[in-house]
Amino acid sequence: MQVYLDHSATTPLHREVRAAMEEVASRWGNSSSLHIWGERSLNVIERSRQMVMNLLGAVGGRVVFTSGGTESNNLAIFGITRQYLTPQHLITSTVEHAAVAEPICWLEQHGWAVTRLPVDARGQIAPQDLQLSLRPNTVLVSLIYAHNEVGTVQNLTKLGQICRAAGVCFHTDAVQAVGRMPVDVSRCPVDLLSFSAHKFYGPQGIGGLYVAEGVSLVPLHFGGGQEDGLRSGTPAVPLIAGLGQAASLAKDMMLQEGDRLRALRDHLRQQLADLPELQPTGDWQDRLPHHLSFCHRTLAGRRLVWAMNLAGIAISSGSACSSGRTKPSPTLLAMGYPPEIASGGIRLSLGYDTTAADVDWAALALKQAIARLQLGD
Ligand SMILES: Cc1ncc(COP(=O)(O)O)c(C=O)c1O
Repeated sequence: MQVYLDHSATTPLHREVRAAMEEVASRWGNSSSLHIWGERSLNVIERSRQMVMNLLGAVGGRVVFTSGGTESNNLAIFGITRQYLTPQHLITSTVEHAAVAEPICWLEQHGWAVTRLPVDARGQIAPQDLQLSLRPNTVLVSLIYAHNEVGTVQNLTKLGQICRAAGVCFHTDAVQAVGRMPVDVSRCPVDLLSFSAHKFYGPQGIGGLYVAEGVSLVPLHFGGGQEDGLRSGTPAVPLIAGLGQAASLAKDMMLQEGDRLRALRDHLRQQLADLPELQPTGDWQDRLPHHLSFCHRTLAGRRLVWAMNLAGIAISSGSACSSGRTKPSPTLLAMGYPPEIASGGIRLSLGYDTTAADVDWAALALKQAIARLQLGD
């Protein structure tokens, strides 16, 4: 029996998404062409854009299609900061995904002042810390919405309100949130929001950036001026069709599916509650519905991932491995875990194909793997 519990890394393609992509892939046409072939492609793109706007609750602004979350984050960060001739100040957090943390490191190396907001033991950013960190020359705040590793969901409305009141551009990396929990840009003061199709049953290599009305960006690259000049290059029409279909499915099934997965996830957590050395990580109230994460006190997360893989179960670890040595997870360190424990992070993330039997089997396998590894230590 094989069980895939790594849906926060990537999700399988939903059959309706595959069908939508195949239908479009069997035709062709450059959306910039003036003939019917071109018009057909343009219609697919604009229909998908509308489906994504609906999922995000966007009434104004626009959605720019990109190659995924990484490009969207880069477009947001460099799109704002490149408008300034001299380095200014920006604010981020200590728990960002590399697709935000690395562009910001680059800016810092080029003279920008950066404030990294701390998080508490649940991975939450305190809104008052954001308030206190604003400076007269702060031009961008970029904060993760839902955390990939520990599942914590930030109070985006509160954080956004602080930025809006200060007149500072607010970007959020919502790659783990969009399609898995309700995201409504019409109620939340956000200027830029990144998302990625492969996190919600769409294809890999496509995503986008929501850009609120009145926000201007400098493009990452220049050329034919597609996507309102913000992302030159011939659009990947079949991928965009897949993203649109995934967005439409998410809108229809997200709430119901979220409830089902939350129940399964809580059941899984319950089954593992008798392992005192396995501590839950992240926030258990404000949390992604399909996401479960733990930290093992003595075993490295990678060893647990390997052991589970041998049992046919896909999970993931939060720590990075370089030259054969496991490094502690920067996120768990930022949350206050000591280095010797911060390499024990694991994540189990559920999806629409996860059943109760999968969860029971995974719990049993994890208990056995831990017992075996502990005996071998
Ligand atoms: C929070 C977060 N941001 C950004 C990314 C990068 O997205 P993509 O794989 O679409 O480039 C990921 C992917 O895991 C992510 O979890």
